[in-house]
Amino acid sequence: MLIYLIGYMGSGKSTTAKKLAGLLDMPCYDLDQLFEEQYKIEISHFFDRYDESLFRKIESSLLKDTLHLKDAIIATGGGTPCFYDNMHWMNSNGLTVYLQMNPKSILERLKSSKRKRPLVANKKEDELLTFVKEHLRQRNIFYSQAKIIVKGESVNLNELTHLIKSYNP
Ligand code: S3P
Repeated sequence: MLIYLIGYMGSGKSTTAKKLAGLLDMPCYDLDQLFEEQYKIEISHFFDRYDESLFRKIESSLLKDTLHLKDAIIATGGGTPCFYDNMHWMNSNGLTVYLQMNPKSILERLKSSKRKRPLVANKKEDELLTFVKEHLRQRNIFYSQAKIIVKGESVNLNELTHLIKSYNP
């Protein structure tokens, strides 16, 4: 089974994917990392040098390449479900898990994160909160199509493992 973790930037997709991989004894991958390894460029530099639309095109094709993995946990990028037919595709080919978080928790995570994120770079705190609220509202249309939705602030890994194992499409 392919398990796709989705959610806003900073919601803990990569960390949760690694922990779940241990519990379910499955390999895990990170779509952003696959991008950076394959194209040998940091995503933030890619955004500077090219543009978001090219990133989304490549991201979608990398996502679809994960089909050959057959059994894996894949942490996606925050925007992955929101472009092309990616959300529908993930729901047709695997199990989607949304790590849902409120804007204030996201803000705290983004503030303490060392990772460079081009879409939220150089924003002041109040500006960032307003941005996250509106962006999340737009993206929730996609995120809410996930088959399993859990609270990202307090993921109960045993419960999530159980939900995944007992999931019946
Ligand atoms: C993005 C999220 C990032 C990365 C890119 C765009 C987004 O991944 O794919 O910077 O559109 O939300 P994370 O969610 O892992 O930060």
